[in-house]
Amino acid sequence: QPARAVDLVEEESGAPGEEQRRWEEARLGAASLKFGARDATSQEPRYQLVLEEEETIEFVRATQLQGDEEPTAPPASAQAQQKESIQAVRRSLPVFPFREELLAAIADHQVLIIEGETGSGKTTQIPQYLFEEGYTKKGMKIACTQPRRVAAMSVAARVAREMGVKLGNEVGYSIRFEDCTSERTVLRYMTDGMLLREFLSEPDLASYSVVMVDEAHERTLHTDILFGLIKDVARFRPELKVLVASATLDTARFSTFFDDAPIFRIPGRRFPVDIFYTKAPEADYLEACVVSVLQIHVTQPPGDILVFLTGQEEIEAACEMLQDRCRRLGSKIRELLVLPIYANLPSDMQARIFQPTPPGARKVVVATNIAETSLTIEGIIYVLDPGFCKQKSYNPRTGMESLTVTPCSKASANQRAGRAGRVAAGKCFRLYTAWAYQHELEETTVPEIQRTSLGNVVLLLKSLGIHDLMHFDFLDPPPYETLLLALEQLYALGALNHLGELTTSGRKMAELPVDPMLSKMILASEKYSCSEEILTVAAMLSVNNSIFYRPKDKVVHADNARVNFFLPGGDHLVLLNVYTQWAESGYSSQWCYENFVQFRSMRRARDVREQLEGLLERVEVGLSSCQGDYIRVRKAITAGYFYHTARLTRSGYRTVKQQQTVFIHPNSSLFEQQPRWLLYHELVLTTKEFMRQVLEIESSWLLEVAPHYYKAKELEDPHAKKMPKKVGKTREELG
Ligand code: CDP
Ligand code: MG
Repeated sequence: QPARAVDLVEEESGAPGEEQRRWEEARLGAASLKFGARDATSQEPRYQLVLEEEETIEFVRATQLQGDEEPTAPPASAQAQQKESIQAVRRSLPVFPFREELLAAIADHQVLIIEGETGSGKTTQIPQYLFEEGYTKKGMKIACTQPRRVAAMSVAARVAREMGVKLGNEVGYSIRFEDCTSERTVLRYMTDGMLLREFLSEPDLASYSVVMVDEAHERTLHTDILFGLIKDVARFRPELKVLVASATLDTARFSTFFDDAPIFRIPGRRFPVDIFYTKAPEADYLEACVVSVLQIHVTQPPGDILVFLTGQEEIEAACEMLQDRCRRLGSKIRELLVLPIYANLPSDMQARIFQPTPPGARKVVVATNIAETSLTIEGIIYVLDPGFCKQKSYNPRTGMESLTVTPCSKASANQRAGRAGRVAAGKCFRLYTAWAYQHELEETTVPEIQRTSLGNVVLLLKSLGIHDLMHFDFLDPPPYETLLLALEQLYALGALNHLGELTTSGRKMAELPVDPMLSKMILASEKYSCSEEILTVAAMLSVNNSIFYRPKDKVVHADNARVNFFLPGGDHLVLLNVYTQWAESGYSSQWCYENFVQFRSMRRARDVREQLEGLLERVEVGLSSCQGDYIRVRKAITAGYFYHTARLTRSGYRTVKQQQTVFIHPNSSLFEQQPRWLLYHELVLTTKEFMRQVLEIESSWLLEVAPHYYKAKELEDPHAKKMPKKVGKTREELG
């Protein structure tokens, strides 16, 4: 291993190596190729930290995001900030001077659109103002929705602290499988999906005096559906106040949708941000990220760094790489605190990102796009943006949904850059070229409703008695084919009858806060007498992909530990096995540690399982166990997931109905076995369409669980079909 020189040198950059590029292509497929274009702007040399010869990223300054405040010196030290009382911080937020005006506007109008720069205090302050103003008298509640669970949790925690109350008392949060509210809770932060479910038990939201649909610009599926439902409720509840809060994007559209509701603008407070682009496209953005963070750390004045990556796995990998390098560089560099943040991050870890950076050190927060607008972290001066995000995409023609890493939109890139200019003039380093920004990024992100399957939402709307979905008041309607397919799928699952009406079984499925296919699987466990096992499988699937721990320095041990859990039949049974053994250990954390299993994920699975178990009675499923007869478990899973099936053909796996080529994920226990028939939990598109969590099935089960969906003919063995038909007949003739 060559010694690593830490030096400040003036460097000429070269194009990324061919090998590195191939590696990147293999990893990211089409997405990365989109950034393949060259840039030929300024040739200004820059100072860089050289770790290894090929390990330098060269940026060129290109544009500036205009601020409305003059550049200032970096902010006062974190300690000074902390000394300020929490009330003084509240008074310093941009929304504060508008408190009275805002309350007056809310009093005057039933629906108000509120637009303000991220970090201006919309989420944390406005519900408090309403509380102080008496909107929660007579036991009424205020709801504030967030598209992301982490945001709901952390914002509620912050507001509880500001109000000096215990989280879960006056202020609480409610996210799927986790309710931190009580009888006393009047300020409820909740995910948009949870408010949607509130409609099931309280269709007119009668216990709420105010509903604030926050982060409206995110345009998540659930937020979009909420718009339609709330607009309707507001018509027959004139005293209900509706607030739609958004970053400075798209607010005119919200106003139009809500019958020209007025827009209240909170003037921004934004410092200029210098934008830098890479001179040449970067081959491996993860590696480039790590190098750039260290470059910034060594060459730039104080100020924390925010890095945008696409998901948990990537974030954990980047954090590990960063920590690893810092360890090796040792005292040659100042202290760098590496902190991850993503949707499933446990709350104790979430709190750490908001703690002030100790003097002399620098903090780097590695986040998903949750930090784009939902969370504001104080002290960020540098933003590092590789330009990607993870997006769901849906093909209504084939009914296939997949998660893909794709380039983010220009709007996203600019929101990200804006995060650097909140406390002082900042810098944003984009790991792509100015040319790519100009020519390859879409202007805005397509609303989720147009790129996801709608089974869930259609089932919910049907349960709310909304039958005519084609004429539902959508801000942007979903593609007609997607709606149609959702109806078809719900029919196949037995949730709707041939007239499109909700069946008894459909009503039960809507009771469970999970996807229709998962609900169906749970309902089917009654028939196959294995609800104990199915509950476990359902819970484990919901914490998906983060069960096994694979530290870099113990890869072999970790992989062996994982293989030890393999059971014939497939990944769902492996998950069941892990959980069962963990339960037998008395839910021990030591056991997890020894078996390279993530204790936190298991604890969450246990929570989810308990909650689902609590709902079984409502859907009339009794507790029962298969007593080791796993065929029953597999059949119950098939009863829910018969839509997600693939068969092995001469040219690899093809989905049964759509004939699409798919592959078993290399992490799967069935990767080497290649069974003839299988079902998968989800498809993830990276370099290929990978099936994640696969289970071996028999084709005859498909006829057993979904006779209305499959015809015996489709399930014939393709090789048997090729046999000359004559043979049998000839024998008969002979006989
Ligand atoms: O919603 P908006 O983006 O307008 O702002 P906010 O989320 O209400 O943030 C207002 C202030 O609260 C910011 O200065 C945040 O840094 C701070 N905050 C915090 O310290 N901890 C949280 N968990 C959330 C917000
Ligand atoms: Mg907010």
